[in-house]
Amino acid sequence: MANLLILESWVRSVGLVLPRKLKELGHRFTFVSRKPEHYTGWARGAGLLDHGSAGEEHPMLGLADEVVVAETNDVARLLGVLRPLHAERRYDGVLTTCDYYLETAARVAAELGLPGTPPAALRVAREKHLMREACRRAGLPGPRFLATDDVEQAVEFARSIGFPVVAKAVDLCASEHVVAIHDADGLRAMFPAVSGPAVNIRGQKRSGVVLIEEFLRGEEFSVETVSFRGRTTVLGVTDKSLVGYPRFIESALMHPADIADETARRLSGFVCEALTAVGYGHGLAHTEVKLSPDGPRLVEINARMGGSYLFDLVHLVTGVDLFEVLIDLALDRAPRATPAPTGIKSAAVHFLLPPRGGRIVEVGGVEEVKADPAIHRLVVDDVIGKTVREPEDNNDFIGHVIAVDRTGRGARRKAEWAFETLAVRME
Ligand SMILES: Nc1ncnc2c1ncn2[C@@H]1O[C@H](COP(=O)(O)OP(=O)(O)OP(=O)(O)O)[C@@H](O)[C@H]1O
Ligand SMILES: [Mg+2]
Repeated sequence: MANLLILESWVRSVGLVLPRKLKELGHRFTFVSRKPEHYTGWARGAGLLDHGSAGEEHPMLGLADEVVVAETNDVARLLGVLRPLHAERRYDGVLTTCDYYLETAARVAAELGLPGTPPAALRVAREKHLMREACRRAGLPGPRFLATDDVEQAVEFARSIGFPVVAKAVDLCASEHVVAIHDADGLRAMFPAVSGPAVNIRGQKRSGVVLIEEFLRGEEFSVETVSFRGRTTVLGVTDKSLVGYPRFIESALMHPADIADETARRLSGFVCEALTAVGYGHGLAHTEVKLSPDGPRLVEINARMGGSYLFDLVHLVTGVDLFEVLIDLALDRAPRATPAPTGIKSAAVHFLLPPRGGRIVEVGGVEEVKADPAIHRLVVDDVIGKTVREPEDNNDFIGHVIAVDRTGRGARRKAEWAFETLAVRME
């Protein structure tokens, strides 16, 4: 049994699974949050009923052995609270599931003398322009890019490399404010939205820096990896489809991707080089990469496990439980990350998106989809009668479906069938 510190969390998805996993494995944990009320109201979606029922406390709060309220957005103040606690309680490891606290967790671990990713490496992996610079220094081919907070500089650069370009904030995630732009006027119009607001959803100050990148063409994949003591193991390659151009909304993922072994090796080798370039040698990573006509090109490194239920897909196909791996790494134990046959050859998730903004009247086809033996899970959030915005990023899903294929790489087709069968009717 270990005693872990968890510094903040995503509210859903990984944030719901990790506390249960910790308890299942017999660990103790202290949950540290600046705002525990951020985690209430989590069970609003009926779809979350398989994770817990409305009115029930969020598992991060409900299952924690201790909840500590402390300013997690200020590492010095946070350490002021955690040092005396650590002297008394003796924590064995520190972790978080929330991207916005990865660097905080790394810094706290380093300060308390606990295992973790070196904070400097984590920062380079996470901040998109630092990651681009590190990869360029290492000689990895990548898109031309400029990081700037000046709109006219951005326009001049975009003109010099040619439109379309992609503009994104260097310090956000979930594809929030990532957009393809086709001309100078479009860039001037979008720039303030991508650069602002001054704080992110967790109240952390933003830099205002916008990354302008050459538009990468080709299919998109991600490579899931585990790094321990500087050695990286590839768990597999996942494919990804997108909708909503000029936005980039994830619509479906399949693990493993239906590509030749040689292509998978090429993508994996490239990602390992990128992880080396940023100095990331301890931790899970979910690295996104495009297979351009000139070869693999990095989209970004996520210094954590793949969200969007990708952890479920990996578990279904390889038997590797990324939550166990996460805990192993936090404790500096050799991660249990060896794939073994599970009887499932591919698994895919398809997200349910409303066709447009407006009031949702009905989601049809639920019974038909649920009855299909290839459907592993169908979750539709409690959205009937609710008004949703025009889908813009990965926060706009109203449900998801997971399909499996025991014979080959057909899970994606099955998940697509389910998505087409589920009819979201708008007012
Ligand atoms: N230079 C580029 N060329 C083409 N497409 C891009 C480029 N950069 C980003 N994209 C697309 O936008 C998506 C989101 O970008 P990125 O991963 O950098 O942002 P993010 O907000 O961290 O995303 P997430 O957290 O959803 O993974 C990518 O998955 C990719 O499809
Ligand atoms: Mg991304």
